[in-house]
Amino acid sequence: MTARIIDGNALSARIRELLATSAQGMKVSHGVTPCLAVILVGEDPASQVYVRNKVAACEKAGFRSIKQVYPLDVELVTVLAKIAELNADPSVHGILVQLPLPKHFDAEAVLEAIAPEKDVDGFHAENVGALMQGNPRFIPCTPHGIMKMLEAEKVPLKGAEAVIVGRSNIVGKPMAMLLLAQSCTVTVCHSQSKELAFHTKCADILVAAVGRAKMITGAMIKPGATVIDVGINRQADGKLCGDVDFESAKEVAGLITPVPGGVGPMTITMLLANTLEAAERTLK
Ligand code: GUN
Repeated sequence: MTARIIDGNALSARIRELLATSAQGMKVSHGVTPCLAVILVGEDPASQVYVRNKVAACEKAGFRSIKQVYPLDVELVTVLAKIAELNADPSVHGILVQLPLPKHFDAEAVLEAIAPEKDVDGFHAENVGALMQGNPRFIPCTPHGIMKMLEAEKVPLKGAEAVIVGRSNIVGKPMAMLLLAQSCTVTVCHSQSKELAFHTKCADILVAAVGRAKMITGAMIKPGATVIDVGINRQADGKLCGDVDFESAKEVAGLITPVPGGVGPMTITMLLANTLEAAERTLK
């Protein structure tokens, strides 16, 4: 059996069309254009690509965007002052600081400086707490996109065994909260987990978010499982691959996301959705 492929590009395109229509409607009815501010510190090539893609997605959907790039040696106070300025600007609805920040930077201080009602990443402690309590203000974009994919594919969640490999604040932890809220039985594995394959083989839904190329192989997957690959790894030949070994996994899984063209486009789509929602809340 070969798995059905979940097309993240197609689902993203459908959702982005709806978001563009809503943004246009907001412009006509209230004279307000949803606006996202993106801050990048340093010259990490992957981050530069992500930021460029986020700004381009805003433009295409009719959103306004502000891009602020700082050199690696910028002072923390300069970035904090910029965030304060964006917080105070009523025409800015969402603020995002691209991660990872340079090692010498106090990432917590930066994330906590963003006004929670503009924190479209959902990384501010107040918003993390709200998600944990089951009452999220903004759902972090990657897990949010994955939930949309599971919904679109009508993957049964109630009582399902969900295994997440990776415990990051950006993906693993919020993913666990969202699946738990939908009554999955959730296991979170990580770099210190013993018997990783024992856990992954039990998964009806397997989310791989570890950042290690092709580490989840077909032999580690339950037949018929839904496999979601969050990894974006650059191979020696320059091509991208996920954390899942797609070739062997697709022979075992029931549903699988490709890399590229799976979770990646959904992350940016949900960033637009969160920005639109932030703008809509200012109108109420
Ligand atoms: N780096 C990797 N993923 C993300 C994300 O979702 N948001 C931000 N701000 N940085 C990231």
